[in-house]
Amino acid sequence: MTEPLALGVLVSGSGSNLQAFLDAIAQTRLNANCKVVVSNRPDVHALARAERALVPTQVIDHKRFKSREEFDAELVHTLRAHGVEWVALAGFMRVLTPTFLDAFADRVVNIHPSLLPAFPGVDAQAQAWEYGVRVTGCTVHFVDIGVDSGPIILQKTVPVGALDTKEDLRQRILEQEHVAFVEALELIAQGRIARQPGSRRIAVTEPGKG
Ligand code: GRF
Repeated sequence: MTEPLALGVLVSGSGSNLQAFLDAIAQTRLNANCKVVVSNRPDVHALARAERALVPTQVIDHKRFKSREEFDAELVHTLRAHGVEWVALAGFMRVLTPTFLDAFADRVVNIHPSLLPAFPGVDAQAQAWEYGVRVTGCTVHFVDIGVDSGPIILQKTVPVGALDTKEDLRQRILEQEHVAFVEALELIAQGRIARQPGSRRIAVTEPGKG
């Protein structure tokens, strides 16, 4: 049995992806220890979810800081103080700077509600619906300095029905996000994500061969 993943989770809102991690950890489907949940916004539901699971929480309001770098430095300080080694962005609505990404180099993962590289940025589900695609989905990827541009770990597809509303689509994608994000974190916990220097391609190794 490998060591549990020392996970920090950054949130800004409802926290349903966070809930998926907490449930998977409780059910031993995910070998991780959620060390702290940090929100840039006070009073969001994600904080209540963490508290219910007895996970430490912290609010770091980005509006208190003069620059993105100062905000990011405070995030790094807090995550390190809680012994975090890997960071999951679970509905975290801030763009991170190198101050943060260099501190957790190649250890920050995000979920995006489209099949990247299609529909990066905000409201990807509505972008896909309005474009009229027949298949969309979600992507778990490493975070780099671009917006939704880092190397892809895994993707799940979601078909778009002719009668689907934007809200139907958003809901079905969210259900797949919960599956995909837990699966990706468990692959990381098992040491099965192999990155090749100089390439964005990621190999997933067989269990026990990482
Ligand atoms: C998800 O759709 C995620 O892909 C996007 O924000 C939403 C967060 O949902 N970045 P939740 O806070 O995990 O419920």
